[in-house]
Amino acid sequence: MGALRSRIVGVGAFLPERVLTNDELARQVDTTDAWIVERTGIRQRHIVSESQRTSDLAIGAAERALAAAGLSGRDLDLIVLATATPDNTFPATATRVQAALGMTRGAAFDVQAVCSGFLYAISVADNFIKAGQVRTALVIGAETFSRILDWNDRGTCVLFGDGAGAVVLRAEEGRGDNSDYGILSTHLHSDGRHYNLLHVDGGPSSTQTVGHLRMEGREVFRHAVVNLASVVQEALDANGFKPTDLDWIVPHQANRRIIEGTARKLGLGLDKVVISVDRHANTSAASVPLALAEAVGDGRIRPGQLVLLEAMGGGFTWGAALVRF
Ligand code: ACO
Repeated sequence: MGALRSRIVGVGAFLPERVLTNDELARQVDTTDAWIVERTGIRQRHIVSESQRTSDLAIGAAERALAAAGLSGRDLDLIVLATATPDNTFPATATRVQAALGMTRGAAFDVQAVCSGFLYAISVADNFIKAGQVRTALVIGAETFSRILDWNDRGTCVLFGDGAGAVVLRAEEGRGDNSDYGILSTHLHSDGRHYNLLHVDGGPSSTQTVGHLRMEGREVFRHAVVNLASVVQEALDANGFKPTDLDWIVPHQANRRIIEGTARKLGLGLDKVVISVDRHANTSAASVPLALAEAVGDGRIRPGQLVLLEAMGGGFTWGAALVRF
């Protein structure tokens, strides 16, 4: 008998309508389009309206992913939603998505690994599928980081945006080797010694406020390139592949220089890297599925191709998933 694999059968994304350009931002804080583009590659970001919540973005992305899969909410056994900006402290934002999709059975819950959240969520769902516990799962990354930014801190407020992306996974019988379709392996790491380098200075059990994002940008940058290159290599080694076997890397979209640095360390050209940070900025847990949805939607990623997803975020947390589409 073969091994159960999680096949990605639908991908979807949702961005709030409002676009905030660097030039508009430069009228609010002491920065320039040139500084932001040179240091980060970011040109604009999408920002939610006053009434839009993380769940609204998540539901938009989920509906598109389900439509692409030809499925409905009633077909789902599991929803795993990655977010660091939930609608409320509890219940899980995933349960609001569950209700909106008309899913009344199975389980829905959130996971929190900040920018690595989507990798953590897809790994959790993949393990449920591989264990034979669920057949159809929806994995979402959705964030409204605009709500937790200090809009007076030019070192952080220029870097982030809002959005959501989602994938539908279905159980499929594979051979159990690296020629299978679907998720071949996932790899997760964290190192809590770096908690304070990227954190929010509030929360229910510390300050009873939501708080604002704080970051030691240079330190984060330094760790990001090393950790990401290492986890990508780990995923390739686990499956007997070389970097040049990859058709695409879909990296976390934090910063163009981190993306370029990681590709360089792996000896990969940027023609194999999906980049959307220029238009979306850093959307934390939403960034990988947003970029993935774009590249699947415009036909860059095609059936049979080998695709590596990777991300790194607060904690620190980092992870990768190797997928054959
Ligand atoms: N506009 C203009 N000047 C700015 C801005 C801005 N928006 N922000 C900071 N500066 C100034 C600083 O005040 C400083 O001025 P000074 O020299 O007079 O003191 C100068 O620019 C340099 O500041 P640094 O913070 O040292 O700038 P650096 O070159 O490190 O770039 C950046 C900052 C872009 C944040 C960089 O460190 C970085 O990309 N870090 C990674 C952070 C990241 O991507 N985090 C996302 C979350 S984690 C993740 O997703 C992987």
